Amino acid sequence: MAMQKVTANGRKEIRMGVLGCGFMGKCHANAYKKIPYIYPDAGVMPRLLVLCDKNEQIVEREATRYGYEEFCTDWNEMVADERIDVVDNCGPDPVHPDPCIAALENGKHVISEKPLAVSVDDARRMRDAAAASSGMAMCTFNYRFMPAVQMAKELIDAGKIGTIYQIRVNYLQMAGHDPSLGADQCWYAAWPHSGGLQGIGSHAIDQCRFLVGEITSVSALVRTFNADRARPSAGCPEVTSDEGTAALLDFDNGAIGVMESSVVATGRKNFLSWEINGSKGSLRWDLEHPNSLFACLESPDGPKVEGFAEISVTEADHTYVGPWWPHGHNIGWEHCHIIEKFHFLDTVANGKPMNPNNATFEDGYRVAAIIDGMRQSSDSGKRIAINY
Ligand SMILES: NC(=O)c1ccc[n+]([C@@H]2O[C@H](COP(=O)([O-])OP(=O)(O)OC[C@H]3O[C@@H](n4cnc5c(N)ncnc54)[C@H](O)[C@@H]3O)[C@@H](O)[C@H]2O)c1
Repeated sequence: MAMQKVTANGRKEIRMGVLGCGFMGKCHANAYKKIPYIYPDAGVMPRLLVLCDKNEQIVEREATRYGYEEFCTDWNEMVADERIDVVDNCGPDPVHPDPCIAALENGKHVISEKPLAVSVDDARRMRDAAAASSGMAMCTFNYRFMPAVQMAKELIDAGKIGTIYQIRVNYLQMAGHDPSLGADQCWYAAWPHSGGLQGIGSHAIDQCRFLVGEITSVSALVRTFNADRARPSAGCPEVTSDEGTAALLDFDNGAIGVMESSVVATGRKNFLSWEINGSKGSLRWDLEHPNSLFACLESPDGPKVEGFAEISVTEADHTYVGPWWPHGHNIGWEHCHIIEKFHFLDTVANGKPMNPNNATFEDGYRVAAIIDGMRQSSDSGKRIAINY
């Protein structure tokens, strides 16, 4: 047979415009490159068309590195480009609202990194723009797509742990534990980042909403231990670089919860964990053991053999695992981003309704409202009802 040209093989090309080529720009580009060969039958072919980054020193180099066809430094140009189907905002938190809203107004599909916005007002504007747009919009709450987290959701939805009583959730890192570090050495402290609660607490709140239910009120302490690092955030001067949050949560279904986020948790590199207790069973999971769900479920042999058992969520018939590796060949943090982006692009390419596990801008807004409530509670010493 003569040499043949490889074609898109019937797959729908999705032309991407990505804002930002830092940590998340790399992570998302990695996802787009892997989607065609991990999901070969899905009809999705992301095309890295434009990379936009305001940093002129690196944007061309990074566009070449990832295989983008074009680059620019002004996001206004990118969101107006008629060739682009999906705008993916991997810029810093304060740079989420304006480009996302402009892209939605231009009818594009939009992905925004979390937190949706620094202020709840901006998050509401983004939510409203998404509701008014013909484009679909996703907020990147990627941990929903860890197979073990998904299995927990399926067990909860099937009633396997009964009525949920309590959740305790932690997202802990150590970036700022050493007081001698300057603001520019702590990812959460220097502009344009917006503190530990927004940066990682937002993920913990999303896990609570995803797994347990809607949060109706909060009581919280939000603290900055190293005050000399606190810098006002652009566009939201009242938010400085908080380092630790301890919060009580009340859910609409009667459950209660405790949430901690910390960027001064000495020894913790990137520890997201939760335990959920229900009337018939309990579940726990953590990001340092991402493939394992620890489950205490009712046993037909009675209470004598009940206790937490470790389930390796790596079987081909476990949700999201099939396209990956044989059982026991674990996946990690990178993969939940790939799985998440795939499900959004599958929706776009194949005209499907938004996948219910993809977080919407409504979800992003609600997390912002809860964070706002936590700040209000910390400032006032009062429990705050969250009105969405
Ligand atoms: N979901 C996750 O797992 C996860 C993890 C880390 C960060 N994040 C979020 O991702 C976002 C990006 O974080 P990061 O760590 O990649 O940041 P980063 O600082 O590494 O990269 C941000 C990039 O955006 C560029 N940029 C800044 N302002 C711009 C503008 N106006 N126009 C164009 N480019 C601009 C910067 O030059 C930089 O290259 C943040 O919102 C952060 O909270 C999410």
